Amino acid sequence: MASTKKILRALAGERQDIPPVWMMRQAGRYLPEYRATRAQAGDFLSLCYAPDLAAEVTLQPIRRYGFDAAILFADILLVPQALGADLWFVTGEGPRLSTVTQQRDFDVLKPADAIHDTLSPIYDTVRILSRELPEDTTLIGFAGAPWTVATYMIAGQGTPDQAPAHALRQENTALFEALLERITEATILYLSAQIEAGAEVVKLFDSWAGSLSGEAFDRYATKPAQRIISELKARHPDVPVIAFPREAGDKYRGFAKATGADCVALDNSVDPVWAAQNVQCDGCVQGNLKSSHMVTGGQALIEDTRTIVQAFSGGPHIFNLGHGITPDADPENVQLMIDTIRGK
Ligand code: CP3
Repeated sequence: MASTKKILRALAGERQDIPPVWMMRQAGRYLPEYRATRAQAGDFLSLCYAPDLAAEVTLQPIRRYGFDAAILFADILLVPQALGADLWFVTGEGPRLSTVTQQRDFDVLKPADAIHDTLSPIYDTVRILSRELPEDTTLIGFAGAPWTVATYMIAGQGTPDQAPAHALRQENTALFEALLERITEATILYLSAQIEAGAEVVKLFDSWAGSLSGEAFDRYATKPAQRIISELKARHPDVPVIAFPREAGDKYRGFAKATGADCVALDNSVDPVWAAQNVQCDGCVQGNLKSSHMVTGGQALIEDTRTIVQAFSGGPHIFNLGHGITPDADPENVQLMIDTIRGK
């Protein structure tokens, strides 16, 4: 029997008059209730590893807005931490990690199957959520894609151009590829464990895919995604996978076929009319409203929302932003977006 959940129906290829909607970073600092729970937890990582509180912040945007999906509250950088990297967050700046730039840094990393020791609280969060979510809400698990995770492990922080990771891949390809392989193995185990705990869909975030070009994109974005998806499908054939090769540009075309993803998420630099013809022809797409509309609101938000709904109305579509909502967003603009989609 077909699912009653709108997200699962879209992922199965069904066109719907009103597309399902959720938002990247929907549990986040723009919400006062998130800030309150985060203050209770202390810092961001303590919140990620406290299952009751992480489940609470995951549920907050579902209660407030009735989104069609909840995304597990965690972070892509928990995998490097579970592999043995030091990880901390500097307020106002972002993540910091111990770096992997030489063989001896790699040699002290743990094997992939050791990650569960650190990550078991995340699976507890998933278990709580699969019990507590409303019955029409889909639970999405996630991980970072190997290239994006590697860019943080190599640089020890976020970088505008991922230069340290590009340098390592050129100067010590063997070490770079060994690191990617370790992250790939860990990601397969991590996503499988999320699914076994109750995640109904998983999403792979390749936030820095756009900085790879030509053959490097195929080798370090497409191939690892394909490998992760085929291993997940072998274990859990019915669990859909969303791939997000952010800023892939022309490379969005054919990405679903090349990787086996059930849905490709689009960033807001992609023209929806182009994507309807060149990406949605292969299956479901997700996206792709500019996050800045959540700050500015008004008629421009309404018009762009309608344009996206219209452009993708011929096939399966999950409405989302093109990237995460930012802390300066106005919660009322989120409601305006949802009302526009649902025709209220
Ligand atoms: O989408 C969701 O609501 C689920 C939870 C989620 C978070 N991070 C929570 C978070 C998800 C899916 C992520 C993914 C993530 N994390 C990515 C890929 C997606 C993207 O944004 O490109 C990346 C690159 C990271 C790494 C990361 N985590 C950075 C660079 C930062 C600092 C930037 C910032 O916004 O402060 C984080 C912190 C982070 N992850 C926050 C949240 C809610 C903010 C932490 C806080 O409360 O201070």
